[in-house]
Amino acid sequence: MCKWRWWIGGFSIAYLALAGFLLISCSTLQRTVVAPPEIEGATFVGNKVCAECHTNYARMFPASAHSRVLVEGAKMAGQTGCESCHGPGSKHVQGGGGRGKFIVNPRKDPTTCFQCHLEIHAQFNLPQHHPLVEGRLNCVQCHDPHGQDIFKPAGGLAMARQNQTCAQCHREQARPFVFEHEALREGCTVCHSPHGSINSKLLVERDANLCLKCHAQVAGPGAAGDIYIGKVWHTGNLTRGTCWSAGCHTAVHGSNLNAQMLY
Ligand code: HEC
Ligand code: HEC
Ligand code: HEC
Ligand code: HEC
Ligand code: HEC
Ligand code: HEC
Ligand code: HEC
Repeated sequence: MCKWRWWIGGFSIAYLALAGFLLISCSTLQRTVVAPPEIEGATFVGNKVCAECHTNYARMFPASAHSRVLVEGAKMAGQTGCESCHGPGSKHVQGGGGRGKFIVNPRKDPTTCFQCHLEIHAQFNLPQHHPLVEGRLNCVQCHDPHGQDIFKPAGGLAMARQNQTCAQCHREQARPFVFEHEALREGCTVCHSPHGSINSKLLVERDANLCLKCHAQVAGPGAAGDIYIGKVWHTGNLTRGTCWSAGCHTAVHGSNLNAQMLY
């Protein structure tokens, strides 16, 4: 496990070398470290100062992954998570705050996010992707930059929330069905990559492997070479296409008519 904290920014070559070493030695972290937004003449003041006026955000923020972000070279004690997205806040604070006053508001623009999340930027450039770079949706429709829900962790409740996130725009797939597909209880992301994918329909696998991770393929009781999935004879079926494209489980999200989700 990586116990060290994030240090962002800085121009020191020694620091970059250290960061490089940490990135290599620490396989769970692959993010490239980039500087936060700049504000001419302003310095970092720390989360505590922001909390004095923005009490609503400060209350939720400690649960966010970004609250742990530290800006390198910030000559003050404490964490600078707010300013990692909004830029150094000293001039904003001295002026008593206010809209458009020496502070960056990223709004729906993903540019600020991409500065640190290079690999997410790459995902949105895969052949199949949510049209985010095209401006048809944005990060903050799926992620709350200030709260703990910024990332939906594993677990029943969290997955229900994740499906609700998707349901904002995809009611058809997320609605209740008479014959539900229990796979959806694990969240849409068991089958779909939320940002982008090399497969059509943002699928995590392009073929039957998508389904076989949960539905074991077993040898049948009859002739050698017979294939069963669960108790159902499937020999030859997969030569016609894949599970959802061979005319078999077309209603893969659930059906109101057929328990096998044929249609
Ligand atoms: C002295 C009080 C005060 C402090 C301290 C303060 N702000 Fe503000 N800030 C305000 C006020 C007032 C507004 C106007 C919007 C509002 O009323 O919510 C504002 C607006 C903002 C906005 C929206 C700007 C826009 O153009 O839409 C951001 C972002 C922001 N603050 C971030 C911060 C951050 C980050 C910190 C800590 C570095 C901070 N603020 C510290 C008072 C403060
Ligand atoms: C991960 C990046 C990120 C971090 C960290 C972050 N914010 Fe924000 N903040 C945003 C984005 C993005 C918006 C615009 C959201 C929108 O328009 O829906 C925003 C909007 C705001 C606004 C303006 C809200 C409005 O009414 O327009 C304030 C004030 C603010 N943030 C304060 C803070 C404070 C205080 C902290 C630390 C406790 C903080 N932010 C941490 C990304 C961040
Ligand atoms: C200054 C760099 C920086 C910026 C700007 C930034 N992030 Fe992050 N973000 C991080 C780091 C570092 C982590 C990993 C934190 C950790 O592992 O403790 C992270 C984690 C996340 C996570 C995963 C949370 C988790 O629990 O694993 C999401 C989602 C996320 N960021 C979204 C955003 C969005 C959306 C924006 C723009 C509004 C944004 N980030 C802007 C540095 C940044
Ligand atoms: C369509 C909804 C959606 C949009 C838009 C979206 N995300 Fe995500 N993001 C998710 C979901 C869902 C997960 C959880 C993935 C999982 O559980 O496998 C996630 C995971 C993440 C993670 C943590 C996992 C990782 O791959 O490192 C980061 C960081 C992240 N998103 C950043 C962003 C940023 C930055 C943007 C905007 C440029 C963005 N996301 C836009 C839905 C979205
Ligand atoms: C803010 C709206 C919005 C949210 C939230 C959203 N999507 Fe989408 N989704 C879109 C748009 C826009 C498209 C592109 C549709 C088009 O091009 O016709 C799309 C397309 C798709 C496609 C089809 C891609 C294709 O090639 O046809 C899938 C699959 C998908 N989204 C899954 C998800 C999942 C899973 C989630 C939750 C993690 C999610 N979406 C959340 C707006 C959204
Ligand atoms: C068991 C795997 C699985 C799960 C879980 C799943 N999907 Fe899908 N989804 C698929 C497959 C397979 C397709 C492609 C169907 C096709 O091409 O006929 C698809 C297609 C889609 C499409 C494109 C529909 C179209 O007509 O082009 C959207 C949108 C979508 N899914 C959204 C979601 C959402 C939202 C969730 C969560 C509520 C979800 N999916 C959960 C397997 C899944
Ligand atoms: C995350 C695990 C998971 C994935 C992935 C998954 N399923 Fe399922 N599926 C289930 C569960 C759980 C059930 C209900 C229990 C059962 O019948 O095995 C189910 C039930 C079914 C049923 C109804 C079976 C019956 O006898 O009532 C069909 C058909 C089905 N799935 C097809 C698919 C197809 C096609 C795919 C791939 C697109 C797929 N599943 C992917 C978990 C999954």
